[in-house]
Amino acid sequence: MARSAVLCGLGSYLPTRVVTNADIAAELDTTDEWITTRTGIRQRHVVDPEQCTSGLAVAAGREALDSAGLDIVDYVVVATTTPDRLCPATGPTVAARLGLGTVPAFDISAVCSGFLYGLQSGRALIGAGLAETVLLIGAESFTSLVDPADRGTRPIFGDGAGAVVLRAGAADEPGAILAVTLHSDGTEADLITVEGGGARARLGGDPTPAYIRMQGRSTFVTAVTRMEEVTRHTLTEVGWTVNEVDRIAGHQANARILHSLAKHLGLPAEAAITHLREVGNTAGASIPLALHHGQRTGLLRPGHRVVLPAFGAGATWGAAALTWPNLKQP
Ligand code: COA
Repeated sequence: MARSAVLCGLGSYLPTRVVTNADIAAELDTTDEWITTRTGIRQRHVVDPEQCTSGLAVAAGREALDSAGLDIVDYVVVATTTPDRLCPATGPTVAARLGLGTVPAFDISAVCSGFLYGLQSGRALIGAGLAETVLLIGAESFTSLVDPADRGTRPIFGDGAGAVVLRAGAADEPGAILAVTLHSDGTEADLITVEGGGARARLGGDPTPAYIRMQGRSTFVTAVTRMEEVTRHTLTEVGWTVNEVDRIAGHQANARILHSLAKHLGLPAEAAITHLREVGNTAGASIPLALHHGQRTGLLRPGHRVVLPAFGAGATWGAAALTWPNLKQP
């Protein structure tokens, strides 16, 4: 049996401060009703400056290590769009604060698909025999990129972190990552951008603030199409029919995107885990947070066949498939 990466630990952390739709509606030209019906989001958690992305990542990572029963790993990978600083990467800070010594640690920048890109990296390291264990964390202080005056983005995004531990195992074990399919299309880079802070803006002397700009409607349509394509491809790769899928634990961008995806695939809306009601869109953290939510609430049960599709800035997109393992309750 081929050597595989097996998901064996799960953790999460959400900052304690909660911002409701009513709080946002008190400051912007929007309503709780608009945000709820157009996105499915009712509230989001927002980080304090003292805590920031590394703090969220450390808390989620520690819980994942506890759940896996490990106190050391061979690699640390942090998927984030919002590193503490532009330089250095956040991974080494997280590894040091977790007491993991001089373990190799790096960041992945693939925005809302970052967790899937990290999953593929961890899987490849384990599959090639270069690592026995990998701690993969998706962590975001995404609200730091949001223009407080932009009603098109402010209601959508939230902060948080989710983490998984991967270990070497066999492909027929529950928790084995059976497939990860990834794509990118840089011709769609302008769908979602943060110009300020990047080399292009700095070299051009552009004082544009580092705020996210999103073409919401185009992103919505492209996201549904791409996620359906990549989910179908991934199912073919693992040999599952659509009807054999128990749960979609997808990137939590918009409840309507997740329900449209389920409908296009021919699955009931309830097959899609929708955690964004409580946390909003947390970009690179959203899939592991959705997995943690599924585990905690019993929406994910051992033996469930689960697909994890995502679409985000880049454009980047992808999907992964696994059979849900029997994890120690985080
Ligand atoms: N409150 C009230 N009205 C708002 C609003 C808000 N917060 N934001 C936008 N509107 C208005 C628009 O101005 C527009 O008004 P108009 O018809 O008078 O021009 C109207 O609502 C419809 O705007 P539109 O952008 O077409 O809405 P939408 O139904 O597409 O919903 C998003 C907007 C952002 C929620 C939705 O497009 C979305 O979720 N997109 C995908 C996001 C995503 O997947 N990101 C990828 C990962 S980060």
